[in-house]
Amino acid sequence: MSDAIARKVATDMQSASWIREMFEKGRRLKAELGAEKVYDFSLGNPNADPPEAYFAALRSVAAERDAARHRYMPNAGFDETRAAVARFVSREYRLEIDGPSVILTTGAAGGMNVVLHAICNPGDEVITLAPFFPEYRFYIEQAGAKMVLLQTDEVFQPDLEVIAAALTERTRAVLINTPNNPSGAVYTAEKCRALAELLGKHDRPERPLYLVCDDPYRRIIYDLDWCPTPAHYYPRTILVSSYSKDLSIAGERAGYVAVPPAVPDKLLLLGALTMLNRTLGFVNSPAFTQRVIARCAEALCDVGFYQQNRDLLCDALREYGYELVKPRGALYAFPKTPLEDDAAFVDSLLAHRILAVPGRGFGRPGYMRVSFCVARKTIEDALPGFKAAIEQVGT
Ligand SMILES: Cc1ncc(COP(=O)(O)O)c(C=O)c1O
Repeated sequence: MSDAIARKVATDMQSASWIREMFEKGRRLKAELGAEKVYDFSLGNPNADPPEAYFAALRSVAAERDAARHRYMPNAGFDETRAAVARFVSREYRLEIDGPSVILTTGAAGGMNVVLHAICNPGDEVITLAPFFPEYRFYIEQAGAKMVLLQTDEVFQPDLEVIAAALTERTRAVLINTPNNPSGAVYTAEKCRALAELLGKHDRPERPLYLVCDDPYRRIIYDLDWCPTPAHYYPRTILVSSYSKDLSIAGERAGYVAVPPAVPDKLLLLGALTMLNRTLGFVNSPAFTQRVIARCAEALCDVGFYQQNRDLLCDALREYGYELVKPRGALYAFPKTPLEDDAAFVDSLLAHRILAVPGRGFGRPGYMRVSFCVARKTIEDALPGFKAAIEQVGT
């Protein structure tokens, strides 16, 4: 292979990204048949309408003429936006978080990179739980650390014994994502408390152990009033999230990191996060977006739209015989594939013009991710294909 790019990047590019692979297969199928004939469940691009409060905030910011507010700003973001996000986060997490403890980032993705660079030394281990968002591996390795991937239990809840066995002197952080992409699992309050207790036994001043909560789906929950969080029970917790899903504005890159008051050496950590936000090249979330967020930090898209999609899709899949833990949050169903070979089954769905992603792409073979952030009609029209595909396996 050519030496034109870094070897690590070349290896990463070659390692199977199943989302990418399905995207390519989908592109070919759409070119052949026409995009409207292909039912694409492979992407997690939020498609609920943004709330009216967001459009009102857009209009009011656009109507202002304030040349200075398009320039560089403090590295942690505009104070007014940090304060507005802090008020929202305090209410949402039931924790007291003030504006100076919030750093505005280019989405949760930017926030995760800033956090991992701030805490990881070369060779450190970061534990994460499968099924998992596959970009974590890149974020962790880019920060010089090593990802340790552990399985959750059969209903995708953390397995405390498995985590206890994997904690070593080198473990720097445990990274969790609840509600989870791709399983839709919401970690129970009991699991959150037990995880916090376990980490508490390993955290030491000379060897801090962080809990990083990647929470962009926190408010996208079904049949629940509130998403439990271990932040209440474990002091050394860093919260990372964004408005990509809450406001359905993933393209606007409105994210944040919030550091709760009990985090030891909080000011040092905030200083590191602020510096890295700049030196990693993000600087921070775009100025216009920040000004808009300051005016609608509490708003939420129509979660009911996703809930109806979830119910339509999941109830039908179960009726056809798919084994499925009904998601309680996020934007994905994660059924078992009727064939053990998840990639083979996902390929068989292509014959019905359906695109999904094999579970192996998320560290959990034998399953597939079916995103339900799609038009209602896409689900309705694709259901006969899902039914036919499982029937074909039976025959
Ligand atoms: C689990 C998880 N974390 C982080 C992100 C990145 O989100 P953002 O748009 O806020 O960067 C995503 C995006 O889909 C995600 O699924």
